[in-house]
Amino acid sequence: MKTITTSLASLILLVVMTGRPVGAATSGADTYKAKCAACHGQDGSGDTPLGKRMKVRDLRSAEVQKQSTEAITAIVQNGQKAMPAFGKSLAPEQIKDVVTFVRSIAAK
Ligand code: HEC
Repeated sequence: MKTITTSLASLILLVVMTGRPVGAATSGADTYKAKCAACHGQDGSGDTPLGKRMKVRDLRSAEVQKQSTEAITAIVQNGQKAMPAFGKSLAPEQIKDVVTFVRSIAAK
């Protein structure tokens, strides 16, 4: 019984740590946290070890936000220089939601 409880606990931990299964409905914020925050920072500032090394621009900044939604979507879909492409790993709907999230963090 103890072994079953232990393996169940580690299974739950694994699910929690690896995030939701592929294909599950996730919000743009969830996708951002899982796929983008490592480089762009939780808040979009790019203030992370990876973001600093790659010199990412602050996603909240006017320079980034002035780009059209189509342009931003294309960057996420196809990648750009050191930015990886997500067109294969994310569904179009997820890309749309994550771009909406990027819009929502714009500096006011
Ligand atoms: C491996 C690090 C990394 C990850 C993960 C990553 N990005 Fe990027 N991103 C970059 C880099 C580097 C650039 C700058 C590309 C360039 O120099 O043109 C960039 C650029 C961008 C831009 C354009 C910003 C600008 O300067 O105009 C947007 C928008 C963006 N990323 C959104 C996202 C989103 C949304 C995700 C998650 C789905 C994501 N990124 C995941 C590294 C990353």
